[in-house]
Amino acid sequence: MIATDLDGTLLGDDGALAAFREWLGGRRERLRLVYASGRSAAAVRELVAAGRLPEPDAVITDVGTEIHVAGPGGASGWRPWPGWLERFGDWSADRVRLALAGYPGLEAQDPVHQTRRKASYDALQLEARDLASIRQALARHGIAATLVYSAGRFLDVIPPGAGKGPAARFLAEAWSMPARDVLVFGDSGNDADLLASGFRGTLVANALPELDAVVGGDVYRSPLTFAAGVLDGIRFWSGR
Ligand code: GLC
Ligand code: MG
Repeated sequence: MIATDLDGTLLGDDGALAAFREWLGGRRERLRLVYASGRSAAAVRELVAAGRLPEPDAVITDVGTEIHVAGPGGASGWRPWPGWLERFGDWSADRVRLALAGYPGLEAQDPVHQTRRKASYDALQLEARDLASIRQALARHGIAATLVYSAGRFLDVIPPGAGKGPAARFLAEAWSMPARDVLVFGDSGNDADLLASGFRGTLVANALPELDAVVGGDVYRSPLTFAAGVLDGIRFWSGR
């Protein structure tokens, strides 16, 4: 199983993406390909339908709040993976949006980035203590949440138990995939939980310093950027 972030990881260098596609060509039936993105399912579906990305087996979108099965029928046949959204019960991003309305330094992203399970903000240079205060503000409204901060500017508030990492674990379990057969790839903060999920991780060379903390035993830092780093990570781990 390959679970890879899109922006800044698989996407960013068209030549390297073409090489990834070629590598995948002969092996497509032997592996599961999963995209794990902060983007919406509709946005990822558009990239696949336009032929910019190979057809995946499943897609984790909206920062790991949604999972779709990429069934037969190509990008038009995607349907929600049964049993995933149900985990979040009545957790509502609308309540988060109300609780954080007017919170200094947080600017709500456009409505197209807001979903029932994800409240997203632009918020520059938040520190750990800012995130702690936001968490406290939510707690005062009785809301437990996971905060995901990326690229020194995006804050996503999602349900506890959501995220790219938990979603990838859910898929690996559904496919009875041992952790050592799961390769994960990323470049920014919303990939941290994916890279720290006990799978075999690779950081592409252009990964942001905010991921430095996850490099270690099961995370390899490639000297190559974007999809070239993904291919390099695949080669690195397949020898082990
Ligand atoms: C994508 C989403 C945005 C989110 C960001 C970081 O750009 O559209 O809502 O904040 O990823 O996760
Ligand atoms: Mg990225």
